[in-house]
Amino acid sequence: MTERVTLFEMGPRDGLQNEKALIATPDKVRLVDALSGCGLPKIEVTSFVSPKWVPQMADAAEVMAGIARRPGVVYSALTPNLHGFERAVEAGVDEVAIFASASEGFSKANINCTIAESLDRFAPVAEAARAAGLPVRGYVSCVCDCPYDGPTPPADVARVAGALAGLGCYEISLGDTIGTGTPETVAAMLEAVLHELPAARLAGHYHDTNGTALANIAVSLEHGLRTFDAAIGGLGGCPYAPGAKGNVATEAVARLVEERGFATGINHDRLAEVTAFARGLRSSQ
Ligand code: HMG
Ligand code: MG
Repeated sequence: MTERVTLFEMGPRDGLQNEKALIATPDKVRLVDALSGCGLPKIEVTSFVSPKWVPQMADAAEVMAGIARRPGVVYSALTPNLHGFERAVEAGVDEVAIFASASEGFSKANINCTIAESLDRFAPVAEAARAAGLPVRGYVSCVCDCPYDGPTPPADVARVAGALAGLGCYEISLGDTIGTGTPETVAAMLEAVLHELPAARLAGHYHDTNGTALANIAVSLEHGLRTFDAAIGGLGGCPYAPGAKGNVATEAVARLVEERGFATGINHDRLAEVTAFARGLRSSQ
């Protein structure tokens, strides 16, 4: 049987969070519903973060309330603290994600605390999720480079990934937040993390600032990873990572992994239509 690669769609959250002009809630709902019609198994819909920090995600509950839930699709959201977790549960998410950094500079800029403080803050979120029966995913940001601290030692990534797994995250998504990773630096990082955790518990989350994301996915496939985050049309950027461009494009990742003999379950014709719609959301701003 053909081996499967899971694509975790980031467009509605990581893709849109950095857009300066507010995108209308019905357009976000339309995007999520169009994506769920493409065969994508997992969609990060929004984030229940502070609206003062990320105004674009202030309508998280309204987006969740507006979407048509397609059976079998997992709808997830970022939750930085218990307050966000409670909002996410009330909105009916299927899964939550906690997000730490491998570098202190980005941790401070993104969530206003040290790495150690963030792990302390995530522990009760993971505990509450366990009690509520919700899976928790973990992110590690700046796995190759940090916009504030420079190159990230692979051992730091391994340590934070291990800590998130220890909190109960079923999967750790490794984020090249500013998209400066190369196949060489990604391989070195993965080798360190694979001492801590098996490939089946890891996902690659690559931004495509320098055009290396697909090569980074290729090297990650060679290291056994079978889950990749991607955003339709290559949307994206992070408000607290200066210079960060979009996530690797979903349609490009689907093509790459299928060329390499993996199945994705994605309907390419539908995805092409959604790509045009997603790009239009940006250019119309
Ligand atoms: P803070 O200012 O230190 O926290 O922010 P606070 O507890 O002092 O709260 C400040 C205000 O926000 C208060 O309101 C809180 O009630 C409110 P006030 O009393 O001033 O009226 N607040 C909230 N409101 C709604 N929902 C919440 C919430 N929490 C507090 N959950 C905090 C700390 C973590 C909240 C803030 O820094 C934050 O929200 N940061 C999120 C930043 C973010 O979303 N960044 C982008 C996502 S990460 C990313 O893109 C990387 C990733 O893609 C992987 C990769 O590429 O590497 C995942
Ligand atoms: Mg990201």
